[in-house]
Amino acid sequence: MTKSSRLPGFYKLSVEERRQLLAELAQLSAEDLRALAGGLSDADADVLVENVIGTYALPFAIAPNFIIDGEELFMPLVIEEPSVVAAMAHAAKIARAGGGFTTGSTPPIMIGQIQLLDVPYLDAAIVRVQGLKRELLAKIEHLHPTIRKLGGGPMDLQVRKLEDTPAGPMLIIHLLMDTRDAMGANAINTAVETLAPELEAITEGRALLRILTNLSDQRRAWASCRIPVGALETPELTGEEVARGIFEANAFALADPYRAATHNKGIFNGIDAVAIATGQDWRAIEAGGHAWAAREGQYRALTDWRVENNHLLGYLEMPLAVGTVGGLTKYHPTARLALKLLGDPDARRLSQIMVAAGLAQNLAALRALVTEGIQRGHMALHERRLKMKD
Ligand code: MEV
Repeated sequence: MTKSSRLPGFYKLSVEERRQLLAELAQLSAEDLRALAGGLSDADADVLVENVIGTYALPFAIAPNFIIDGEELFMPLVIEEPSVVAAMAHAAKIARAGGGFTTGSTPPIMIGQIQLLDVPYLDAAIVRVQGLKRELLAKIEHLHPTIRKLGGGPMDLQVRKLEDTPAGPMLIIHLLMDTRDAMGANAINTAVETLAPELEAITEGRALLRILTNLSDQRRAWASCRIPVGALETPELTGEEVARGIFEANAFALADPYRAATHNKGIFNGIDAVAIATGQDWRAIEAGGHAWAAREGQYRALTDWRVENNHLLGYLEMPLAVGTVGGLTKYHPTARLALKLLGDPDARRLSQIMVAAGLAQNLAALRALVTEGIQRGHMALHERRLKMKD
């Protein structure tokens, strides 16, 4: 990566000029650049899903200006919506005034669920499963030798009792597994399917569903920023007014699900765009994020914004189950290029980069909404599009 991720005037270049400049700055090879021209081959697409008749392209862009934990980054984005890229680049530039984004994450622990029905004595079954935890975990240790070699593997079994469901009481077993740099859906699903017959025998119940949960709340990432309010000033408003507006807009989304849905959609404009660029299962990420947003019983904003000592403080934390090995990252040359642009991160680092992208996008949306409104930038691009069609 270059010393700085600032790219003034990048937007004024032609697509080809941008590619050449990026190749120079990020030391991309001719083969890397070819990945930007087409991406997935028919043959690889045919391996991924059924009944393939071709592939489908979307714009691939970069947002400059990012500093994440002191590292300068170009954010790779695949998105069709006008303004998102420019808005994110602008927000990343504003955040630079406070040193950029600081991030963190938990270890990459996925959860798989086993549903047990017709368990005759729920409480006795819970005690038995808990007593046999070590033996049960030992039975699935051999399943994923690569994950184990890298320090991951099964970690814990937790038992939950759902006493009042439309189908009567049931016992739910959670398998917690560190899947390292894999997103881990296959690993966890194999593990819960393997464990289910043992659990049926122990609980005298009937196993039905054996599947991961997308509410991967043991695998979270967070990002924060601390921006001097002066950096938020516009020709019409002081930095204090903009910062206060962002705090008030966030308060609206914390209190009202109608606003929270739109607020969080803006966050996913950033997160999904990086997820798609880097070959992630963005539906899984969305499902986890929205379920997390409703974890207290009301759907709320995922972010927290406040003003303290002349600084605007932003924070976003959410589940982010991502992988940098296996899945699409194995087949898609453009996804591999996106990961290369990010310095070939491991899964934890990628989740941290993505959550910073989400926070940046939220900052951009709120800043626009509390100042000039969202339509000005949006319509300018829309008009450009219409002109191109003429
Ligand atoms: C549009 O795609 C996203 C926004 O509506 C998000 C928001 O309202 O916070 C601008």
